[in-house]
Formats: sequence, structure tokens, C-alpha cells
Amino acid sequence: MKILVINGPNLNFLGVREPKIYGKQNYEDLCKLILSHCNQKNITVEIFQSNHEGDIVDKIQEAYQKFDGIVINPAAYTHTSVSILDALKSVGIPTVEVHISKVNEREKFRQISYIRDYCVSTVTGKGFKGYIEAIEILKNHIK
Ligand code: DQA
Repeated sequence: MKILVINGPNLNFLGVREPKIYGKQNYEDLCKLILSHCNQKNITVEIFQSNHEGDIVDKIQEAYQKFDGIVINPAAYTHTSVSILDALKSVGIPTVEVHISKVNEREKFRQISYIRDYCVSTVTGKGFKGYIEAIEILKNHIK
């Protein structure tokens, strides 16, 4: 199984940005957690982060016929991006949405997700461990 993990804007600033909301661990810690889990479970994984919407769209398009599943935290683009939704629909790859924080309990605008209806499932408010849960959901969905 080959999966792609995509992280959107400002997630490269984990550990620095709003630690009360996102925790004190940094982006490298997140990558290490994902890599070690996938290594244990024999899952091939690529991790990608960008602050640019078009780069995320390009990456999703490049995943066409190359990856079995996508785990995506589009960050702020969750609440604004039709192009990321359209890219996911275009490639048709099973996708799980993940958010570190409890987006449903925060500002009203964070309760809107353009990709949610497309996704197999959404994991929110579980911190970094939410990515592991998302990978497991994807694994069970694909097999
Ligand atoms: C986030 C929640 C978004 O509302 C926010 O813009 C982010 C991170 C999360 O992981 O909790 O950048 O996606």
C-alpha cells in the first residue's frame, strides 16, 4: 500500500504557531511519527507540505495512478478551497481528512470543510495521533 500525506499552509510552523492549540511538537516530530508508523505497518508513505494552494493541487494530480490513498490536512485551505476538492475528485483516490485541533469547536468559519463530503472519513482534535488514526482508516478502507 502506498499513501501520500499532504499538509497545507503553516503546518511547517508546528511547535512555534499557537502551541496551546497545536501542541509543542514540531513538523519534523510529526513526520517522524508518520514514518515510524508506516514503517512498522509496511506502508510506503510520502509526506508533502506546502503553503501554496496550486502546489497542493499539482501534488494531488501527480498522485494519479501512483498512490492508493491520501491523508490530507489542507489547514486553512480546508475552509476555502474548491480547487483542492476538485483535484481530489479528479484523481478519485480514497482520502481521509485530518485536523490536529477540534475544528468543530472553534470559529464558525473552521466548521466549513469543502473536502469533507468527498472524504472517506474525517479525524479532528486528536493531535498528531489523528494522522495515525487517519492512516489506519485508509488502510481498512482500501483492503
Ligand atoms: C487545522 C485547522 C485549520 O482551521 C487551521 O487553519 C490550520 C490547522 C488543524 O490541523 O487543526 O492551519 O487544519
